[in-house]
Amino acid sequence: MLAFAGCNYLGLANDARVLQAVRAGLDRYGLSTTASRETTGNTTAFDDLETALAQFLCAEGSLLLADGYTANIAMAQALATRFRTVLIDAKSHHSVHDAARCAGLTVVTFPHGDTEAAAALARRHADADPAGSVAILTDGVFTSDGAIARLPALLAALPNERSLLVVDDCHGVCVLGPEGRGTVSHYGLSDPRIVVTTTLAKGFGSYGGCIAGPRWFVDLARTASGIYRCSTPIPPAIAMAAHEAIRIVLAEPERIDRLRSNVARLRAAFGTIGLPLRADHGGALIPIFAFVLDSPERMDRVHRSMLDEGILAPYIKYPNGPAEMFFRVVVNAAHTTEQIDRLADAFARRLPAMGLSGLSGGTDLQSPTGGSRVEGVA
Ligand SMILES: Cc1ncc(COP(=O)(O)O)c(C=O)c1O
Repeated sequence: MLAFAGCNYLGLANDARVLQAVRAGLDRYGLSTTASRETTGNTTAFDDLETALAQFLCAEGSLLLADGYTANIAMAQALATRFRTVLIDAKSHHSVHDAARCAGLTVVTFPHGDTEAAAALARRHADADPAGSVAILTDGVFTSDGAIARLPALLAALPNERSLLVVDDCHGVCVLGPEGRGTVSHYGLSDPRIVVTTTLAKGFGSYGGCIAGPRWFVDLARTASGIYRCSTPIPPAIAMAAHEAIRIVLAEPERIDRLRSNVARLRAAFGTIGLPLRADHGGALIPIFAFVLDSPERMDRVHRSMLDEGILAPYIKYPNGPAEMFFRVVVNAAHTTEQIDRLADAFARRLPAMGLSGLSGGTDLQSPTGGSRVEGVA
């Protein structure tokens, strides 16, 4: 099956050196530390990975967690010791909303991407807060459709120096910014009020999660987060794999170049077909292509016909997507140009064969060749 699925953006989940790092880690440490890091379960593998993550994410420090979801919980537990209210973009990842609720924060959502609404709410809630502070939480790159948050406007929306902007950058890290350093770097932002959370299981192809940010916040999470203090860390061997992945990302910038040229190729091809892509990536090369056709039945048929061609073009159900079920096609650095052309060619043949003689309703794609844009598909 030729797969355009998952979030293995740089192809590192199958890299022989990453896999070898796991084997070396198993030989050195065994499988599990069998204890939390703050008791007897720490290893240099974790400390070294935290140093590498902080450097990669241009932050003062970082804290390693079991995964990206857990990193958001730890972030929210730390926030809850200083903040009462958080403002969350309505389409942020489920884990961000869940984490804030679990930590007992007062959650206020603002309409997706509406930075003016966020600014107005931030002023109002900071005024009402005893400490005069508020935190704004958003994805950097949104999971389902790859939309990019307008971080400069959200940073400007913070009412004062005591407030924070938290960016879940699971899909921005290894994708956006110089050397793939993420959405904050993509915008060239450097501000002591920015905290980033991310996974190690997507671009880095490994497993784990982290919080990265100003030293005071990372230290606060280390002491105040129950889910960090009272749980067993990932196996050290997996931390060594993630560390090796970071080394490869920095040593082989051509991987990111390849990812971006693959994105550009598929984007142009989908533009020619007129697929109604759902997010405006503002010219950035994001490997997530989400779209919805006119009916679930039609989408199901298209999906199955692609499987018949030996192609997995994921048709999925996921919280906060553009519809209950939608296509989420992902291209990565390991795809060849022939594979990308095969995918585009299959869509170009299969859609008309199902009566979709053209497409309409896209938000960010216009056919560069003036190719057909068709009735009947929303
Ligand atoms: C935006 C975002 N945040 C958090 C997570 C959770 O990360 P993990 O799978 O490492 O728990 C994901 C996806 O899995 C995600 O897409």
